[in-house]
Amino acid sequence: MCGIVAYLGKKPAQPILIEGLKRLEYRGYDSAGVGLINPDKIGIKIIKSSGRISVLEGLLPEANPKEVLGIGHTRWATHGEPNTINAHPHLDYTGKIAVVHNGIIENYSTLKTWLISKGCKFASETDTEVIANLIGYLYSGQDGKKTPNGDQNKFEWAVQRALNELVGTYGLAIICTDFPDMLIGAKKGSPLILGLGENEFIIASDAAAIVEHTTQAIYLADNEMVTISSKGFHTKTIDNVEIRKELKQIEFSLDAIELNGFAHYMLKEICEQPKALNMCLGGRLDARDGRVVLGGISKYWREITRAKRIIINACGTAWHAGLVGEYLFEQLARINTETQYASEFRYRNPIIEDDTIVIAISQSGETADTLAAVEQAKERGATTLGIVNVVGSTIARTTDTGVYLRVGPEIGVASTKAFTAQVAVLAMLAIELGRRRHLSSDEAKFYIEELAKIPAKIEKILTKSEQIKKIAEATCDRENWLFLGRGFNYPVALEGALKLKEISYIHAEGLPAAEMKHGPIALITEGMPAVFIATMCSQYSKIIGNIEEVRARGGRTIVVASEGDENIKQYADFLITVPDAPEELQPMLTVVPLQILAYHAAVLRGHDVDKPRNLAKSVTVE
Ligand code: AGP
Ligand code: GLU
Repeated sequence: MCGIVAYLGKKPAQPILIEGLKRLEYRGYDSAGVGLINPDKIGIKIIKSSGRISVLEGLLPEANPKEVLGIGHTRWATHGEPNTINAHPHLDYTGKIAVVHNGIIENYSTLKTWLISKGCKFASETDTEVIANLIGYLYSGQDGKKTPNGDQNKFEWAVQRALNELVGTYGLAIICTDFPDMLIGAKKGSPLILGLGENEFIIASDAAAIVEHTTQAIYLADNEMVTISSKGFHTKTIDNVEIRKELKQIEFSLDAIELNGFAHYMLKEICEQPKALNMCLGGRLDARDGRVVLGGISKYWREITRAKRIIINACGTAWHAGLVGEYLFEQLARINTETQYASEFRYRNPIIEDDTIVIAISQSGETADTLAAVEQAKERGATTLGIVNVVGSTIARTTDTGVYLRVGPEIGVASTKAFTAQVAVLAMLAIELGRRRHLSSDEAKFYIEELAKIPAKIEKILTKSEQIKKIAEATCDRENWLFLGRGFNYPVALEGALKLKEISYIHAEGLPAAEMKHGPIALITEGMPAVFIATMCSQYSKIIGNIEEVRARGGRTIVVASEGDENIKQYADFLITVPDAPEELQPMLTVVPLQILAYHAAVLRGHDVDKPRNLAKSVTVE
C-alpha cells in the first residue's frame, strides 16, 4: 500500500529509483529497498533495510552505469514486522525472480503451504514472498509445464499463471535474471502507472515518482499487466489478451510537490488553502444566475435531482467532510442523506433503491474500503458519484460521474486542503441541488456569493498561526483532549481531534457537544484542554452551556468563535476568532485553526508531521 518505482532505460537505475522512492515518502512507509539487474554477473543485487530511505542510501554502493533495470519499494507492513528481511524486493527460492508489491495477498497462507510442499524455501513472513516463489516455481517448470504456447515469452507466461492464482490486491514490478532487458508490471486493486520517457520507462504507484522524467503515462486497470523491454512495451490482461491503452497526460507539476520554503508539507498545504479553494471553486460558481456549474456531472443532474436518498461513503477525514455534506444536503437540498464508513458499508447489506445516489469521497481515489463501497453500490444498481482529488485514480475511474477537487497533490499524511475542498464541493452540489429542488434563486445566489468569499476568509485565519502556536505551547503537554461542536461544526470537532491524534499522538476525542453529558464528561479533570467550536450559529447558546459545564469541572477551554463576539471572551481560556459566515459554510473556516493547532502541537512535541508513525497517506489495503 506504499510505493513502487521501477526503471528500465539507458541511465543507471539506482539513483533514479532512490529519487523516485523519496518522492513517494509522503505516503508513509516503514522500510525500503531496491533490486537491480547486474548484466555482468547476470544476477539480481538486492539492498534493503528497515527505516528511512536515508538509511537505505547509506547501504548503497556507488551506482553502476551498467545497471539500467531495477525495482524499488517503500513498504507499509501488513504481513510481518517492518524489519529488513521482510522489506522488499523479495527474491524467489531460485534467485532468479525479484518482486516488489503493494497490497495484500489474501490466499498467501494456502499458497505458501503448497509451495513449501513443493520444496520452495521462504525467508520472510510476508505475503509478497509467495508471489516471488510462485512465479519462480512456475517459471522453473517444476510443475511439468515447461513452456508457453506459441512464441510467448516464458517470464511473462509464468507471471500470468501466477497472477491467476492470487486472491487479493497487488501493484507489482517484477524482474528476472534470465531477461536482463525486461520489466513486468501488473495491477489489481493497487495503483500502477507506466511513465513513457525518451528511451526509458518508469513504473510507479504514484505519478509523483514519474513526473520528473515524463508526463506521458498509461494507467493500468485491474487485471492488466505491462511487459517492457528497451525496444518497447505491450499491455495485456493477465489472461494474455492484448489490449490497447490510451496515453494520458499526467497533470501535476513538480513544483506542486516541492516544499517551497515551508518546514513541512502539512504546513504548506494548510497555507495553500485559499489558493486551493480558489482553484476548486474557479469557474464553477455563477453568482449572477445563482447557479453552480460542474461540467463532469452535467449529464447526471436529472438523476441526482430526482434522488430520494444520498449515501455518502468515505474514510477518515473524507468521512468527516461527508458528515458536513450530510448536513448540507439535508439543509439546502432537503434530501435524506446518511454518511457511512466505507469499511462498514461494504460489509453490510445496504438497501439501495432506484433513486439512491451513492457519493464516494476520497483524496487519493485509491482507498481500498471506499473503492469496495463504490463497487458494492454499483453492483446494487446505484448511480455513483466520486469526489476525488487525484486525477485518473481508481475511484475517479470507477464511479459513474464525479467532481474533482482540483487542489493539486496533497503530500502531508494529515489531510488538510483536501478536507476544505471536499466540503466546498459538497456545498456546491448541495446549493445546485437545492436550487433545482426548492431553494429560491435569491437563496442560491446568497450561498454562492458566500462560498466565493471563503478563500479570503481563510487567508485571514492563517495570519493567526503565531497566536495559535502560543496556545499549543501552553497546552500540548496534556495527553487527553476533547473537541466539541454542534450542528455543522460537529464534524469539525471530529476532524480537529483526528488531526491532533494522528500527528501529535495526543489522545483526543471529538464529540457532538451535547453528547459530553452522556459519558465523556467523566473524563474532565483540572486543566484538561477542551476545544469548542462556538461560532455564531443556531446553537450558539447551547454550546455556551456546554462550555460552562467543562469550566465548572476545571477544564481549560480553547474556543473558536466568530470575530466580534465579545460575549464569548468570558468563557474562553484561549480564544481564536474566525470571520463570520453562514453556518452551513463555517466548517471550511473553523477547521483551519484546528489544523494549525495540531500542526504546532506536533512540532512542539518533536514529531515529523509529514510522516506520522504507523500511518500511510493512501490506505490501499483493508
Ligand atoms: C487524514 O488526515 C487521514 N490521514 C486519513 O483519515 C484519510 O483521510 C483517509 O485515509 C481517507 O483517505 P482518502 O481521502 O485518500 O480516501
Ligand atoms: N503485504 C505486503 C507486505 O506486508 C506489501 C505491503 C505494502 O504494500 O507495502 O510486505
